[in-house]
Amino acid sequence: MCTISNLDHSVNNPNLWSAQRTYRPFIISSLFVALTLGFTTGAAILFFPLLGLNLGNAWPTHTQSHGTAQIFGWAGLFVMGIGFHVVPRIRNNPMSFPWPQRFVLSSMLIAIVTRFFGQTITSYDINDSLLAVSTACLALGLGSFALFIGITLLKGKTRHSSAELWIVVSLAWGIVAAGLDLMIIYRLIGSGSEIISTQINGALIEASLLGFISNFIFGISLRVIPSFLNLPSPKLNLNRCSLVCINIGIAMVVLTHTNDLSDWLLLVGEVIKSVGFLTYILSLRLYSRKKSPGKYIANIYGRFEWFLQVSFFWLLVGGLLEVWKSIGNTYSQFGPPVDLGAPAIHVVGLGFITIMIIGMSSRMLPMFEAAVSPKGSLMDTILVFINLSVLLRIISGTINFDLTWTGLALSGTLGTLSISLFGLVVWAVFRSSSSEKYVELTRYKTPLKIPTKNSN
Ligand code: HEM
Repeated sequence: MCTISNLDHSVNNPNLWSAQRTYRPFIISSLFVALTLGFTTGAAILFFPLLGLNLGNAWPTHTQSHGTAQIFGWAGLFVMGIGFHVVPRIRNNPMSFPWPQRFVLSSMLIAIVTRFFGQTITSYDINDSLLAVSTACLALGLGSFALFIGITLLKGKTRHSSAELWIVVSLAWGIVAAGLDLMIIYRLIGSGSEIISTQINGALIEASLLGFISNFIFGISLRVIPSFLNLPSPKLNLNRCSLVCINIGIAMVVLTHTNDLSDWLLLVGEVIKSVGFLTYILSLRLYSRKKSPGKYIANIYGRFEWFLQVSFFWLLVGGLLEVWKSIGNTYSQFGPPVDLGAPAIHVVGLGFITIMIIGMSSRMLPMFEAAVSPKGSLMDTILVFINLSVLLRIISGTINFDLTWTGLALSGTLGTLSISLFGLVVWAVFRSSSSEKYVELTRYKTPLKIPTKNSN
């Protein structure tokens, strides 16, 4: 059987689907958005309150467009790129290229850029047109991604796995997110405002960040983490339980926001979701002892495992923070003393999703590229910076003390630094000299598998 890894060590025949590196433009675009509209905007804006400057309406317009850029640009493009590469391999069946990937990528990029400027540049009379283009392109991008990946999942002769169910659910949430975005932009244009109301915005964030992105990550993780970390087989019944809990929880949160339902329902939804996070982690046996010390893999960055383990820890913390916040909606005396800089969203977006992306990439990209991993010391620095960033975000966002804004600005700076360093790591892996070094390193150690016609 063809596995993800033996296909990726294949010879680079440009006519073979298995030799395509369609993830490259997605990853480069994702990093580009992160370093221009995403992390940098988020970090810069945190310095204004620290300097005692009030941004007025520019605060919500910039933070809301930052949120869209981070979810659909940074996380969305990265996950889509990896999805286009991995899903055909999971099904062991070819996928058309390159036009589906190019279409999805262009639609998403136009959507993200027009949304950012449609919401933030208010001095010219072009906002409505930009916002209309943005929502149409987002629907096209998410819709066609769901279609292409959905068709790929239906193909192939191998038995469908539990991981695929997570991916199908993620695609469905992608469509819901596109629908919510259409509704939001319709309302914005109708009201002549650039600020999205908190409730419907909350629904979009939940459907996209948890529904679309996180479910996709859960699916890919279920497929690869047990073998990457050499763990015992996952408990699949428990895993299905977590799928149900997490998605019932997400649906309840979305419905509560869209229909203005009681805070009690929100609290119940958050609790069910957190139970789902816990059961997912237990089902993966993420923190159990390894089956064996692991196979020899040329020059791999060994501590990628820490990234994966810590990211799931932050996911659980994120779920509990949401529960705490929801308790505060009903009984204010028991809620967090302050709620600054959206700590719960960032523990998930930065702590879970971003750390997961970095950890998985440090393991997957050298394998896809047949290249040596970058310097471990750079990755170690990222590990420390990004975890400090998440920790500062939680402390400064939930506890009332004098240096709150300093803590948040420092958290933003460390987060942005981490992602810039990660950009360097990706650049190093993509360089042709890294594949040359890999060939040199493995020449006498690993026999190179040449794919036969049937292995496609
Ligand atoms: C260094 C990294 C980051 C910084 C400095 C940052 C900064 C900010 C700030 C200041 C806000 C406004 C919070 C408020 O209204 O009180 C915000 C909101 C938000 N951020 Fe980030 N952020 C970062 C990373 C991320 C990441 C990685 C994601 C997701 C993958 C993300 C998603 C969001 C979302 C969804 C919102 C809510 C936007 C809205 O209200 O519509 N952020 N961020």
